[in-house]
Amino acid sequence: MEKVLLICASPRKGNTAQVLSECARVIEDNGLETETVYLRGKKIESCTACGKCAKIQKCNIDDGLNDIIDKLRESKGFIVGTPVYFGTARGDLMAALQRIGYVSMSTDNFLSWKVGGPIAVARRGGQTSTIQELLMFYLINDMIVPGSTYWNMVFGLERGEAIEDEEGIRTIKRFGENVANLIKKIN
Ligand SMILES: Cc1cc2nc3c(=O)[nH]c(=O)nc-3n(C[C@H](O)[C@H](O)[C@H](O)COP(=O)(O)O)c2cc1C
Repeated sequence: MEKVLLICASPRKGNTAQVLSECARVIEDNGLETETVYLRGKKIESCTACGKCAKIQKCNIDDGLNDIIDKLRESKGFIVGTPVYFGTARGDLMAALQRIGYVSMSTDNFLSWKVGGPIAVARRGGQTSTIQELLMFYLINDMIVPGSTYWNMVFGLERGEAIEDEEGIRTIKRFGENVANLIKKIN
């Protein structure tokens, strides 16, 4: 069965995790497998530009990111969810994506044609700039990003609030449906 990998970039068991689980449920309802990886508790370092990935076919930093890359290689879809911190994505997510992207383009371009996109969760503002920031990763790595009925943004501060954002959750569910259907069509 085709698989979609989701990364949850919140350090809390909070809104982003709940929103991603709604998205994953819709993808599963549409016949695909999902797995969610949580960055919570991991210490993801930034790319050191050592260039060794081209030779060893994985990242040279031993902090667990290569396990995520292995899961990603087996997946047809890739969705990232992040809380908004000062109008941008969390730093550890960007560190992870920069290393994943560099390993991909230094090896066999395993990100090519993966379907997915970003989801941003915030109390009040900064979701659109965060989505734009994350799209730079998707679009330079030959990936396919479907839309939804709105941008993939959800509002909430404390745990449980985002799931109450009816329009936000509706948008995320539709996005999940589009990811699943696109994967089925192109594979
Ligand atoms: C350091 C920090 C910066 C934040 N910056 C923003 C922000 O720019 N805009 C906003 O609306 N919310 C901001 N928030 C609130 C979080 O985005 C919001 O609480 C979100 O629901 C957290 O998601 P989580 O429960 O998955 O961790 C910030 C929170 C923290 C801890």
